[in-house]
Amino acid sequence: MKKIVIFASGSGSNAENIIRYFEGDGQIRVVALFCNRPGAFVLERASRLGVPGIVFGRDEWTSAGGIPARLRELGVDLIVLAGFLWRVPEMILEEYPGRVINIHPALLPSHGGKGMYGERVHEAVIRAGDRKSGITIHHVNERYDEGAIIFQASCDVSPGETPGSLAAKVHALEHAHFPAVIRGLLERDMNMNRTPY
Ligand code: GAR
Repeated sequence: MKKIVIFASGSGSNAENIIRYFEGDGQIRVVALFCNRPGAFVLERASRLGVPGIVFGRDEWTSAGGIPARLRELGVDLIVLAGFLWRVPEMILEEYPGRVINIHPALLPSHGGKGMYGERVHEAVIRAGDRKSGITIHHVNERYDEGAIIFQASCDVSPGETPGSLAAKVHALEHAHFPAVIRGLLERDMNMNRTPY
């Protein structure tokens, strides 16, 4: 059994979609949802779906006895960031090489970096006059949104597009592709018996 944990801090539509996708799967399971924002809607979504929610603060994030210890107890194979904004400590990246992935709501390397999340990204895309946007699923390294790209999918930015309408298109792409990309990484891991890339 391969174990996924999801880190999320907002509404959690991606977290819910991933949890549902692997429900009843014999080989891959979402074992916990980690959230750094008490009261975030993602916690309610996870709880409704029977996935334990773990709320944590800065201290636990950066100390060896905190989140790293919880992850070790759980025996985690893949850490999935789905709408999570804190930089991942080196301690965790070193322990899970190639096993921490993130989704970004634009076509990296454009419109990434610290402070670029959610609506702000869509505003920047429209302001830049880009004709295309999309999603990027990538490995996480010590710099925001700069890890190796695993998968991208794109959509048109139409004339008159608003941040809200673009967000809806991008969310649809995320929901369509993110779980399958996760499955691909873990299945490759199972077939080749090594860490996923
Ligand atoms: C998603 O669009 C995700 O790509 C984005 O936050 C949204 C979370 O939506 N992540 C970032 O902007 C990270 N820089 P959700 O809470 O409905 O899953």
